[in-house]
Amino acid sequence: MELGSAWYPEHWPEERWPEDVRLMREAGMTVSRIAEFAWSTMEPRDGVFEFGWLERAIDLLAENGLRAVLGTPTAAPPAWLTQAHPETLAMEPNGRRAQHGNRCHYCVNSPRYHEFCYRIADEMGRRFGTHPNVMGWQIDNEYNRVCYCDVCAGRFREFLRERYGSLEELNSRWSTAYWSQTYTDWDQIPMPVGGHNPGLMLEMKRFVTDSYRRFQKLQISALRQYVPADRWITHNFMGWFDGFDHYELARDLDLASWDCYVGTGHHDYLGIGATHDLTRGFKRRGFWLMETQPGSVNWSRINNVLDRGEVRAMAWTAVAHGAEAVLYWQWRSAPGGQEQYHGTVVGQDGEPRPLYEEIQQIGRDFAAASQVLDGSEVKANAAILNSYGDRWSIHWQRHHAEFDYVVHAGAYYRPLASRNIPVDIISSEEELSGYKLVVAPCLLMLSSAEVANLVRYVEGGGHLVLTIRSGMKDEWNALLPSKQPGPLTVLTGARAEEFYALDEPVPVEGEGPLSFHGTSAIWAERLMPIDEGTQVLARFGKCNGWLDGRPAITMRTHGMGRAYYVGAWLDDASQRALMQWVATEAGVAPLMDSPDGVEVARRVRPGGDEVYVVVNHTPNPAVLSLPWSAVDQLTGAAASGSLQLEAYGVAVLVKQ
Ligand code: GLA
Ligand code: ZN
Repeated sequence: MELGSAWYPEHWPEERWPEDVRLMREAGMTVSRIAEFAWSTMEPRDGVFEFGWLERAIDLLAENGLRAVLGTPTAAPPAWLTQAHPETLAMEPNGRRAQHGNRCHYCVNSPRYHEFCYRIADEMGRRFGTHPNVMGWQIDNEYNRVCYCDVCAGRFREFLRERYGSLEELNSRWSTAYWSQTYTDWDQIPMPVGGHNPGLMLEMKRFVTDSYRRFQKLQISALRQYVPADRWITHNFMGWFDGFDHYELARDLDLASWDCYVGTGHHDYLGIGATHDLTRGFKRRGFWLMETQPGSVNWSRINNVLDRGEVRAMAWTAVAHGAEAVLYWQWRSAPGGQEQYHGTVVGQDGEPRPLYEEIQQIGRDFAAASQVLDGSEVKANAAILNSYGDRWSIHWQRHHAEFDYVVHAGAYYRPLASRNIPVDIISSEEELSGYKLVVAPCLLMLSSAEVANLVRYVEGGGHLVLTIRSGMKDEWNALLPSKQPGPLTVLTGARAEEFYALDEPVPVEGEGPLSFHGTSAIWAERLMPIDEGTQVLARFGKCNGWLDGRPAITMRTHGMGRAYYVGAWLDDASQRALMQWVATEAGVAPLMDSPDGVEVARRVRPGGDEVYVVVNHTPNPAVLSLPWSAVDQLTGAAASGSLQLEAYGVAVLVKQ
């Protein structure tokens, strides 16, 4: 387990560095991420490189037992570069170039920018690639911008030409006769701004994904000339940010990492837990929490501080979900710059802030538990599938203003996670055979590979839950010429005859094994079994006439396998009842029962031994009943029968 922070030595006189690094060491930190925005310090003039300061900073860290993660600085090009080459600045949708001086204001496809990025990555790699104290690399910082310049537009058309081969194919896939969009020349195809043709919008997202993938690969190829294979290269993603397909970007990385901020309010451990699980799913292995908030941020509506103890609980939640490192952003407030009010570990006066002692506690925790957690992994037998294409498509045409793909997926995640059932969140294209239960929320656009994957899974004995908006479109974002769920009807044994956006919740009654009396809000689908082999598990009550008495949830068995079709967006209590039953039927059991707000997670060691991470997310003491005796690795204390947890208390248990 690594603990650290983002440190910007270039903001400070060198005489100060030893004191900063001493304070890091005394906080129990083992790693420091540096250089990620330091381009103007590393290359003060075109082609003039100054790495001596960075080498001294890395060496100072080494002397104090901290390793370095180096960031390529390409999110913050220097002023001499953008002045001499204004075409490297991104074009806003309104036709203006982005201003210099914030971040990610570059054109991701600019050949000139690529040259400069390659060169700085190459120089950094040459100088530090084999440095024994550089453990890993981060490319750029939080990719997010879309550029609308002519270079990008040209590349977009090339991208389309490669994908479609001919304009006839493209016109037909996109139904361009609609509103006279028919294209007779590739150059007529615009980069969409705002609402546009659904096929065009989908390809634009794929193009943005492809652009960042090339940009990232370029830098990786520069670094890998020098960086040995046992040192990882990552990028710090932004959780559920939907600007590109993260699975594609993650392909070329060794490790996924993300920047986790609460902003206003407090740590919602189920919501943030899901985001950890999402990030773990990018590479299907442990991840780094590359940035997290030391108490408060500066960019939210109300930048409140987290409660005393909550930062530690948050760090442990990350570990519980597979984090191998936790780094605070940032070490010390710079006197100037855009983020003067952000939380830090050390204040503007250079003295530790009150939170420092809590970070020291995390340092002691990690030191105590590192060995037992080393090499351990989260193992889940339930999975939720995630698809960027489906999410984009639904969000462009929500049909109900409150229809949110991530919130909908969360409605399936929360009833599992709140009962301490580990969940993987993975791409809808992944191999599923290891799972007992798979939920595919809003699987809107289907490729034949996805259909084959799901059919194979259910025929192999898996339990699959399909939900509303499933199987409606093809992979070009066009409607399928069939009723939902299209080719997945072979699994559900039921079709959706109609879908309804709901202005008011409608009643839903459980049937047979399900006995809830609940409602569906936002959305409902009128299901129709194709024959008697499909069992109805819930029906809509009296409402708009169209739904009255019609099936809302169905189930069909296929040997040992099962397919559920949920045509409702249930209220929380009914959803809990549904998911409790579905999980039990699939043989998916909670790790342990716990009081509300107390999380129990598990990491499994290479030999199969289990380590339980227990986090009390409430500001009150709690008691957990233990089914076995254990030793808390953080305190060395034995626990049997029950475990007392203080407010925001944490325990790391190994069974005796
Ligand atoms: C992002 C950036 C950091 C910093 C933080 C502030 O995550 O990567 O450089 O700006 O936000 O919360
Ligand atoms: Zn551009």
